[in-house]
Amino acid sequence: MKVRLLDATDARAYQRLRLQALQESPTAFSASHADEVGRSLDDVVARITAAADGSVCTFGIFEQDQLAGFVAVIHPQREKLRHAVELAGMYVAPSCRRRGFGRALLQAAVAHAHAIAGVRQIRLGVNASNAEARALYQSIGFTSYGVEPGALQVDGMCHDEAHYVLRWGLVAG
Ligand SMILES: CC(C)(COP(=O)(O)OP(=O)(O)OC[C@H]1O[C@@H](n2cnc3c(N)ncnc32)[C@H](O)[C@@H]1OP(=O)(O)O)[C@@H](O)C(=O)NCCC(=O)NCCS
Repeated sequence: MKVRLLDATDARAYQRLRLQALQESPTAFSASHADEVGRSLDDVVARITAAADGSVCTFGIFEQDQLAGFVAVIHPQREKLRHAVELAGMYVAPSCRRRGFGRALLQAAVAHAHAIAGVRQIRLGVNASNAEARALYQSIGFTSYGVEPGALQVDGMCHDEAHYVLRWGLVAG
């Protein structure tokens, strides 16, 4: 397996896997398949290409040159928020699960956040009933600080969202 930042050359493979993710795991993402199925390739390129200002990038994980998973890293640029990075849209293709792909993706994203000057925490949200993902985040050191009831509504059913944070280099105040 190999983890690297995605770029424009990955757009088609990303879109294929992203749509598969939205169809296969609708309760794991806030976007729906209908939201994204009509996206143009240009939109997808813009979405996955690392922003020049460092505000967003997407890591992909590859098995024999095939995209097998991804996670997005969002770094707010506003002064009061730029100490905190957000992770979103984590996915590993079913055929590659339980082989350390998710952990490798998460470790790459965490290392990326660590390397950004001034960043001291990472947050993410996960469907509260998603035991696999919660176990993964907790195994890396994320701690849950609350649950938002009914944050997501999928096919008329409400799902709670658990909020997680990973912090380092704490300062008083
Ligand atoms: C959650 C997800 C990314 C995990 O990816 P993965 O490649 O299978 O994860 P890994 O093999 O790296 O597992 C790492 C750890 O996660 C936990 N984990 C992963 N799958 C698990 C499962 N089915 N049951 C229990 N724990 C699980 C374990 O702690 C595991 O460590 P271990 O193998 O040493 O026990 C993957 O299941 C997935 O894409 N699910 C659908 C989309 C989704 O839920 N995304 C998260 C949105 S917040």
